[in-house]
Amino acid sequence: MRGVIDGAALPKHVAIIMDGNGRWAQRRFLNRKAGHAAGAEALKKLTREAEKLGIEYMTVYAFSTENWKRSREEVNDIMDLIRKYIQQYIDDSENNQARVFVIGRRDRVPEDIVRKIENLERVTEDKQGIKLIIALDYGGRDEMIRAVKKLCSRAKDEEITESLFESFLDTSRFPDPELLIRTSGETRVSNFLLWQLAYAEFHFTDKLWPDFNINDLKDAIRRFQDRERRFGGR
Ligand code: IPE
Ligand code: IPE
Ligand code: MG
Repeated sequence: MRGVIDGAALPKHVAIIMDGNGRWAQRRFLNRKAGHAAGAEALKKLTREAEKLGIEYMTVYAFSTENWKRSREEVNDIMDLIRKYIQQYIDDSENNQARVFVIGRRDRVPEDIVRKIENLERVTEDKQGIKLIIALDYGGRDEMIRAVKKLCSRAKDEEITESLFESFLDTSRFPDPELLIRTSGETRVSNFLLWQLAYAEFHFTDKLWPDFNINDLKDAIRRFQDRERRFGGR
């Protein structure tokens, strides 16, 4: 694609809805699990390359609060892959600069995965590279309801402001994403970062997630840089 990226005007935070693993597998006459495995590989690779490019934060949608509706077999396959990849990240953390965070609910994912997540967050705590935020059993509405519950019990006498509310969200430590990418041709948010995407630019691509690579990310960034963000002003 035309043009080069302006390295000085990179989005700090890119959010990605990694969609299309199932269709990717179907086109290759593979099972859905193979699609999710290819998707996990694509994420690993892209994280390293996004870090080299200078992206500071990348939040990726790995499993939504609605994805429990899928067959038990598919949910188990996805959880197995998550288990495996978290362990790989832990084992490989010496060769990796990414700092990993996991957002979403922790009361429904298997207990051993929760332990691994805590371990992963701990072993990458001092890393200075890209901040990779994995949304797991995450839904924007669920996150907001959890925030409201905490707010009601802990901040009874405070004036309710946007920043007070934000301080109870899972993402309180991160700036809002400036750019949202969704792969696979779907053009909906599917309950991802509903609050945080208020002023994000949206980029949709037909590429299926396992095929999405650094050139596609650069393409999305170039288009992002061509846009004028007005934030309600004129
Ligand atoms: C995204 O790929 C991964 C998850 C939702 C876990 P899909 O599994 O949704 O792939 P498609 O949309 O069926 O192709
Ligand atoms: C969104 O994809 C969730 C993830 C990518 C993890 P879905 O495939 O679940 O979304 P819908 O069902 O097409 O809206
Ligand atoms: Mg999908």
